[in-house]
Amino acid sequence: MSPEPLEPMLDLARHALTNAHAPYSRFRIGACVRSGSGRLYAGCNVENVSYPVTQCAEATAIGAMVAAGERQIVEVVIVSEGAEPCPPCGRCRQQLAEFASPQTRVHLCGPEGLRLSATLGELLPMAFGPNSLNRPT
Ligand code: THU
Repeated sequence: MSPEPLEPMLDLARHALTNAHAPYSRFRIGACVRSGSGRLYAGCNVENVSYPVTQCAEATAIGAMVAAGERQIVEVVIVSEGAEPCPPCGRCRQQLAEFASPQTRVHLCGPEGLRLSATLGELLPMAFGPNSLNRPT
């Protein structure tokens, strides 16, 4: 099976980035997830004057997917404007792991396009997962 083209995901993530609410960090991020059905869901970071209340772009995209009734992520695009590729923060890695697999590809992009790809397993080795919840009987 040939991989899906990245451009539609990039376009949606780039557009979401332009809607980012980032007056405090001035660091705008756009994200897009491809779901199991093939639909694309985008999001941007939404900052708050109470800084820790900020929502990351990945969380916004995941929330849109879940709100639409989907539960599987098969590919992820993250777009930032900095000089370096912007890897997802630890919290976002855990949130992605809820709906993705260790093989899921995460593409780190700049406005110009793809910069670096990694699997979620590479980004989040030894993940805390459902099996970690085994409690003593
Ligand atoms: N940010 C994201 O949106 N995703 C990440 O994975 C890393 C950080 C946002 C949060 C905040 O609005 C800004 O980047 C600076 O930390």
